[in-house]
Amino acid sequence: MSSVNRRNFLKASGVAILPAFVPAIATASNNRTESPADEPIIKFFYDGEDFTPSMYINELQKINSKENIKRDFYGQGGAVTALEKKFTEITGKEKAIYMPTGTMANQFAIAVLSGNNTKVFVQDESHVYRDEADAAQSVFQKRLMPLAKGKTYFTAADLEKAVDGLKGEEVFSSGIGAVSIENPVRRMNGCMVPLEEIKKISAYCRSKQIKLHLDGARIFMASAWSGVSIKEYASYFDTVYISLYKYLGAAGGAILCGDKTVIDQMPHLIKIHGGNMFGNWTSAAMALHRLEGIETRLKESIKQATTLFDVLNKTKLINISTLDGGTNIYPVEFSKEVDGKKAQELLDKQYKIRIGPPNDKNQTQFTVNETILYRDAAYITDAFKEVMAAAKR
Ligand SMILES: Cc1ncc(COP(=O)(O)O)c(C=O)c1O
Repeated sequence: MSSVNRRNFLKASGVAILPAFVPAIATASNNRTESPADEPIIKFFYDGEDFTPSMYINELQKINSKENIKRDFYGQGGAVTALEKKFTEITGKEKAIYMPTGTMANQFAIAVLSGNNTKVFVQDESHVYRDEADAAQSVFQKRLMPLAKGKTYFTAADLEKAVDGLKGEEVFSSGIGAVSIENPVRRMNGCMVPLEEIKKISAYCRSKQIKLHLDGARIFMASAWSGVSIKEYASYFDTVYISLYKYLGAAGGAILCGDKTVIDQMPHLIKIHGGNMFGNWTSAAMALHRLEGIETRLKESIKQATTLFDVLNKTKLINISTLDGGTNIYPVEFSKEVDGKKAQELLDKQYKIRIGPPNDKNQTQFTVNETILYRDAAYITDAFKEVMAAAKR
């Protein structure tokens, strides 16, 4: 990772709070409440199951034994085409296209939506602004205009003010190309942009003929926690990108959805940027398979987590709180009586429940994902109660 500040990368991607050792055994779910691993491991980090190579191969074999996985050629046909079709149904958009990365999907969407106009408004805390190595500026000649520093989102009023302000602030006008919104926002602990604000921003943009892109890498999380369908979210945007690996199990990949006129411009861009890979079916088949029932599983995961957290909070040995407008990330603080690090170790060793290591203030975060469904609520509750009793100072 030579061109990347590894410490900052881990921090920004949320991996910095992982347990001291990364799990050697991966677990994965085929029918979502069972782990295919010999011993299911519940992980309170990551947005979904995370496969090791051997588990990935096993999972693909299971998929293949039900129905032969069909290969693609340079992203055409087979599992890739089937996945694209599925995403047009999920998002309600006219067309979808597979891309090797979300970074590519964001950048191409913004570039195409902007046309020759150069200014693109983004959240200051967004992946597009902070984590895409200035690609918009250096590769696509777009000038990112950050709004809402330190906040999850900018309001329609903020955007309008910024757009109107340009007239007085700049002498030589150049057009506004697009607005990009990330939802939920990774750098803001997965907090969401409220639907009402999205509606206002969308209405404003449409009234000014400004195109709107959604970095919906984790839009399934926003949808599960807010109850707003992905189709509804997508309806307010011209283009939507969704990650295939954050909670859909794929080894990588992204989907970009939008109008045919926009998506039809993507194959050429993918090719000239060297992103047209010969075979993409390993990721597409995995994502396609794990898409089935994911919304139900996430709803169940929320239910299970809510029950668990209520019970645990009553012990007064731990405080699990919610974030205002949050999704699957919950701040956690063990009481002073409990040695949080010891509790973490015992949970892992004795119960195969993995949490991020508490810091020197006895605080950590729980990220809820579908691995919480590998065991029933009673197992997890009892495990926490027992380790917290054993870890009392
Ligand atoms: C919000 C958000 N957008 C975009 C990306 C980029 O995805 P990729 O790693 O596929 O380029 C990420 C990845 O971490 C992300 O968190």
